[in-house]
Amino acid sequence: MIAKTMYGLEAILADELQQCGATDIEQLTRAVAFTGTMETLYRANYTCRTALAILKPFAEFDANNDQELYDNVSQIKWEKILDVDGTFMIDSTTSGTIFTHSYYAALKTKDAIVDRFRRMFGRRPTINTENADYKLNLHITDNHVTLLMNSSGESLHKRGYRQAVGLAPINEVLAAGMLKLAGWKCDRNFFDPMCGSGTLLIEAAMMANSIPAQYYRGDNFGFCRWKEFNRAEWRNIKQQENKKIGSLDFDHEIWGNDIDMDVLGGAEENLQYTKLHKDVMLYCNSFEDQDPPEGPTLIVTNPPYGERIKVDDLNDLYTKLGNTFKQRYGSDCEAWLITSDFDAMKHIGLHPSRKIQLFNGSLDCRLLKFELYDGSKKNPSAQNL
Ligand SMILES: C[S@@+](CC[C@H](N)C(=O)[O-])C[C@H]1O[C@@H](n2cnc3c(N)ncnc32)[C@H](O)[C@@H]1O
Repeated sequence: MIAKTMYGLEAILADELQQCGATDIEQLTRAVAFTGTMETLYRANYTCRTALAILKPFAEFDANNDQELYDNVSQIKWEKILDVDGTFMIDSTTSGTIFTHSYYAALKTKDAIVDRFRRMFGRRPTINTENADYKLNLHITDNHVTLLMNSSGESLHKRGYRQAVGLAPINEVLAAGMLKLAGWKCDRNFFDPMCGSGTLLIEAAMMANSIPAQYYRGDNFGFCRWKEFNRAEWRNIKQQENKKIGSLDFDHEIWGNDIDMDVLGGAEENLQYTKLHKDVMLYCNSFEDQDPPEGPTLIVTNPPYGERIKVDDLNDLYTKLGNTFKQRYGSDCEAWLITSDFDAMKHIGLHPSRKIQLFNGSLDCRLLKFELYDGSKKNPSAQNL
């Protein structure tokens, strides 16, 4: 099978898949290949925080031209896979010199499928590119064709907990990946000084409470519509994973802060929905005026990147952020931030001890780690470190 993820999160996802019982794990770019049973597939969908989709291959053949593609697809027993009255869509990727247009290859594949249904039943399943019952993946490398079924359906970043959106919410899979890259092991406090609608807070709190990634999503998975869907096995896996909730006895603070009261209202709404509102404290201040919790604290944040604010203001914001790191946060804090603004980044005035490349949508970003020292709060003479 193939688990899809974001650039830079492949190793994290490989670990998560191993915990689901996957074997033969191989890291690819933005994906991880693995072997597993249906149980592995259900568990990976339910628990992997850094997977966007789990794809299950079901047909493989060679095709040297359009007609061979059509003929091979026609021979697949689609009536055993798709519902004639259902909807489907095809995502396609092609590489090599034979199939140079992925859209055209998908069209040929679609024709072969619907023609087979028409021949057999006089009617056919319809295409729905928004919310199809069956999402197929067509993957062609040179003349080698693989057809996979997207077992997740809607992307797994849609966890089902987001009631309010905020200004520029970070993707849930990226947020979880950032936390894992930053070493969030739920053994200290967590603080996001620019928390927006609270995605990092919720993902951190879900990990601290061992709440499965898709706990709030219900049964909104592609595989629930498959003919081979085993509801009893799926329920059993959910029960096993739900039994782990609260098993860490997490006894630290999770705090969020944002300057914008309206946005914080959204964070509160999301937290209420997840019933994590008692575990997370929210503050409304500029980050310069907000202390982190007392004691060892991991800080991970997603500041503005200048998509909506002027460059001068952004440089000033990053300067203030650096000063706050130096002056307000002590050596028991470790700070990470993600940004795509490489100029503004220089205004932080601290040398990052790690830089990890990630993408926020199409934006080339860096996740930066800053080691902190006891600043003015604890040692007034160190103000200008
Ligand atoms: C990119 S958004 C964060 C989005 C958040 N990660 C989420 O998932 O919703 C940046 C946030 O920084 C906040 N912000 C901007 N300047 C701030 C400041 N000086 N102090 C605190 N928060 C600030 C904005 O209100 C905004 O919510």
